[in-house]
Amino acid sequence: MRVAVRVKRFDASAGTAPRWDQFEVEAEPTDRVLDCLHAIQWYQDGTLGFRRSCGHGICGSDAMLINGRNRLACKVLVKDLTPPITVEPMRGYPVIKDLIVDMQGFFDQHRAVKPYLLTDEPPPLRERRQDPKEQERFEDTTKCILCGACTTSCPSFWANSEYVGPAAIVQAHRFIFDSRDQGQTARLNILAKESGVFRCRTIFNCTEACPRGINVTKAITQVKQAILKLQFPWKRRG
Ligand code: FES
Repeated sequence: MRVAVRVKRFDASAGTAPRWDQFEVEAEPTDRVLDCLHAIQWYQDGTLGFRRSCGHGICGSDAMLINGRNRLACKVLVKDLTPPITVEPMRGYPVIKDLIVDMQGFFDQHRAVKPYLLTDEPPPLRERRQDPKEQERFEDTTKCILCGACTTSCPSFWANSEYVGPAAIVQAHRFIFDSRDQGQTARLNILAKESGVFRCRTIFNCTEACPRGINVTKAITQVKQAILKLQFPWKRRG
């Protein structure tokens, strides 16, 4: 089948205005949007810029706006889209070229929440063991692949890029609720700041956008509740 693909083009180094280019590509219904982008880049316009690595929904490098929704180009099939297929860069970060955005701010926010195990316990001979019940508390947020689809679909982030954003909160959640970690208070204090978790207005775009099916809004709510328990301990139930 012939498929029309409209791609938003921009080159920050050229200083020209953004434009839309339309391409016609030969595709199978079960081809992915990523295959269409490759068909354009390899056979029609070698200057088209986009990121990809694994091609299988693991690395998170090809998140983009496809028919108006943040998705991974390697996970969306042509047959599941209404033509023409429109492809744009994620919103909220500066565009470098075409579908490539500058993720520096995203990774700065990621680092700010200390997304690693904090503990004074010396390493055991083997692994740091954990009860499966305790692991269930943060199982969902371990699935994050740092694609940025949640953060760049969030109106609170669009309005204020200082907001740490859903992805960083998901990363913090993964450690805040890990019984082996001792950095809970430090992370909650970071997320209690003006640029932190209370900028979330519970809009649910993040949950809708997550290609891994993480309930991002639920994770954010649990972090809000943990901060409130920390700040107002006398309100604790039981
Ligand atoms: S290319 Fe790795 S997630 Fe799509």
